[in-house]
Amino acid sequence: MNKIAIMGAMPEEIEPIISKLKNLKETKYAANTYYEGTYHGKELVVAYSKIGKVFATLTATSLIEKFECDTLLFSGVAGAISPDLNIGDLIIADGLVQHDLDITAFGHPYGYVPEGEVCILTDVALRNIAKEVAKEKGLKLVEGIIATGDQFVADPERKEWISKTFKADALEMEGAAVAVVCDSLEVPFFILRAISDSADMDASFNFDEFLESSAKTSADFILSMVEKIQ
Ligand code: ADE
Repeated sequence: MNKIAIMGAMPEEIEPIISKLKNLKETKYAANTYYEGTYHGKELVVAYSKIGKVFATLTATSLIEKFECDTLLFSGVAGAISPDLNIGDLIIADGLVQHDLDITAFGHPYGYVPEGEVCILTDVALRNIAKEVAKEKGLKLVEGIIATGDQFVADPERKEWISKTFKADALEMEGAAVAVVCDSLEVPFFILRAISDSADMDASFNFDEFLESSAKTSADFILSMVEKIQ
């Protein structure tokens, strides 16, 4: 039986989903709250991790190991790198990289550690469902590389470096951690983000202004995908 995990980093990213669940049950686990419920007859487990790669790793692992989810969808906001992405636009990751992982002192490329991969790919079937939803709703959906790091980027130079080094289209603070967990545990996963800012000098102001609306745009899209997942 399919049990779908839906994960965000912040309360704003999952509240629009929790508010739609039926038969809601809350469980406290590992200093967090997990919301189990149903949506269109599908069993969901929803949680926000708190910000950053470490918390994201803990929550993704718990959703899979403790709550026995066999598919994981991430919904949230991101800073834009690609000039094609404006506030409110949606991007799905085809691959995720860690922009702050650096053992280049030993001759390795940025984002690489031995026995790991620089870029982890998301599930193709889930990406195809997203494209179907976008087509049906007439929504713009960009597909590209998302770069993750434990850093809120509000600096044009850092943004440019991430863009050049990883060919990334957007950046955030959790996706690649979720990718490592799901890839290692062989759980199909999908990362969706709506743009809240452009990772530049105005990023913190734009983030505060657009977090809620962009988080809802992403959450609504994820719920439409849930209806289509077999
Ligand atoms: N999430 C949304 N905007 C971001 C930014 N500018 N840096 C890191 N994570 C983000």
